[in-house]
Amino acid sequence: MSKNIETHLHEKRIFKPSKEFSKQARISSMAEYKALYQESIDKPSTFWAREAKELSWQKKWTKVLNWKAPFAEWFVGGKLNVSESCLDQHLSTHRRNKAAIIWEGEPGETRTLTYLQLHREVCIFSNILLKQGIKAKDRVIIYMPMVPEAAVAMLACARIGAVHSVVFGGFSADSIADRIEDSGATAVITADGGYRRGKVVPLKDSVDAALEKQSGVKTVIVHQRTGGKIAMKKGRDVYWHEEAAQVSSVHEAKAFDSEHPLFILYTSGSTGKPKGILHSSAGYLTGAYTTCKYIFDMRDDDVYWCTADVGWITGHTYIVYGPLANGVTQVMYEGAPNYPDFGRFWDMVERHKVSIFYTAPTAIRAFIKAGDHFPEKHDLSSLRLLGTVGEPINPEAWMWYHEKIGGERCPIVDTWWQTETGAIMISPLPGVTPTIPGTATLPFFGVDAAILDENGNECGPNEGGKLVIRKPWPSMTRTIYKDKARFRKTYWKDYEGKYTAGDGAFRDRKGNFWIVGRLDDVLNVSGHRLGTAEVESALVEHNSVAEAAVVGRPHEIKGQGIVAFVTLKEGVLDSPELNQELRTHVAQAIGAIARPDEIHFAPALPKTRSGKIMRRLLKELVSSGKVSGNITTLEDVQVIEALQKSIAQAN
Ligand code: WT7
Repeated sequence: MSKNIETHLHEKRIFKPSKEFSKQARISSMAEYKALYQESIDKPSTFWAREAKELSWQKKWTKVLNWKAPFAEWFVGGKLNVSESCLDQHLSTHRRNKAAIIWEGEPGETRTLTYLQLHREVCIFSNILLKQGIKAKDRVIIYMPMVPEAAVAMLACARIGAVHSVVFGGFSADSIADRIEDSGATAVITADGGYRRGKVVPLKDSVDAALEKQSGVKTVIVHQRTGGKIAMKKGRDVYWHEEAAQVSSVHEAKAFDSEHPLFILYTSGSTGKPKGILHSSAGYLTGAYTTCKYIFDMRDDDVYWCTADVGWITGHTYIVYGPLANGVTQVMYEGAPNYPDFGRFWDMVERHKVSIFYTAPTAIRAFIKAGDHFPEKHDLSSLRLLGTVGEPINPEAWMWYHEKIGGERCPIVDTWWQTETGAIMISPLPGVTPTIPGTATLPFFGVDAAILDENGNECGPNEGGKLVIRKPWPSMTRTIYKDKARFRKTYWKDYEGKYTAGDGAFRDRKGNFWIVGRLDDVLNVSGHRLGTAEVESALVEHNSVAEAAVVGRPHEIKGQGIVAFVTLKEGVLDSPELNQELRTHVAQAIGAIARPDEIHFAPALPKTRSGKIMRRLLKELVSSGKVSGNITTLEDVQVIEALQKSIAQAN
């Protein structure tokens, strides 16, 4: 979907925030943004100390930052309990009985939890965890549908100092097993199932399958969501509601060090093995809190809705930690955007009077395709601010969002960030920044972003290069769990002491950042990161497959689709059935989002004489059907002709 620099430069549409919005916004002029930004870069300790003070601390820090690249420590010497800033802090204020979460299940039931009620649930669950012998720093896997209990489980882990690792409910049993293995988790929190497109997703069955391979897990706590039949293993599995009846609802939060690990979240890289991105407590929470406050302009009378799943970083930062630390009311939704039809989101916006709405370009494109009559049927006048995240937004989707959803009145914040950055890094400020469809615009406070060329020099205007961050920021990942070497190698080796994001980008003459897309072998499918190597290794696990190569290709809704080239083992015949079987096999091995859109059987893959698969050729073949440039290093030129034929037949 991402266009090249040339076409970006023809984008002339520019939208300034309305006077009305600016007047009430926390930051209301460009001069104010610039002054604060300058302070945040020149005197980060001053800027961040002021922000962090708004959180709830049991002991104040002695030093804001220790930086020994690439390892940062923020708010050194301080002690806090993350769940206190999200819950307890509000109980002595007017927010005590304010709705924290207005939840809607896919079948249609709703449930509201006030801050007081949410606090009580978290205290109860903290006591359940303690009763099960779970201690600070133990790792706990959370594999849940989008129900309030998912947030309760995360906050309770934080409250007792256990490290949660949420696994997206769409991932497979094998993915759960891999994450248990890597994290050394001893407990799993799950549900009997969850609703998605009218069907029950059998979460507990997947956990059972994963635990056949992983013996380290001693406890499984099961939330009853659907009431469906599941197996409960004696001595290992307990029901949440049965345990809840046996513990106290009082839990005094103990303080943990600022750098106490908060969570591990796995994300794809360019090898077959997902990386465990580790985040710690105080810095992460400061980033989550501050970005919500300034970028989403969260207010006491807002109804905020982020449509992500808690299984992704967006759900961690912008459903759980950031919004709750801000004491906002939010909507949480269990199911699919098109259930019962593509009007679901707009119906919910109307019924709950949502004022801030945060979603992904892939969802917007699906809505465009479904038709304008869906949003047109609903009163969306409660909306005042829109956000997008996950991938570069194509100008057509941006304009549709602006006109059909935002009624041409709502600022759009196109927020660039990553699992590793913990919080938004580049984004407009809604009361200040002129927006142009397709650019995430300017860096947030404290973010020293730049575009560098191969030699480490800063690129000129409209010159493409690598997106880097030159200074540490509070919510940055602390390391890849148990793999400092990989951490250094992945993010810090291109330029000494600077963080390389893995994205290609350029800045226009006004300094706006335009993100072009990933520079590594990572695909962005519906806003989710997926390594080509992961899909390849799932394919070669199948006993018919000899070799596989996977590339991305533009996809109308998903942004990128997955195309696989497969050579079969001696004696195995290709067939449409086998093609289908392999696609299902990948979905089972990783999760449905990894299912290849196309698989091409090939007699051989194009390789250099030294045996490296020439992905460049495969990418060109799937996007244009042709190959350009030098192919003389290719081992066998006929391979290309065979592949061309196969692609032509498929289209
Ligand atoms: C990658 C990070 C951050 C939460 C969702 C994805 C791409 C993300 C944008 C944006 C252009 C974007 C980048 C980035 N990306 N937001 N607004 N404009 N690209 O988190 O799975 O860690 O993926 O998503 O390529 O590197 P993630």
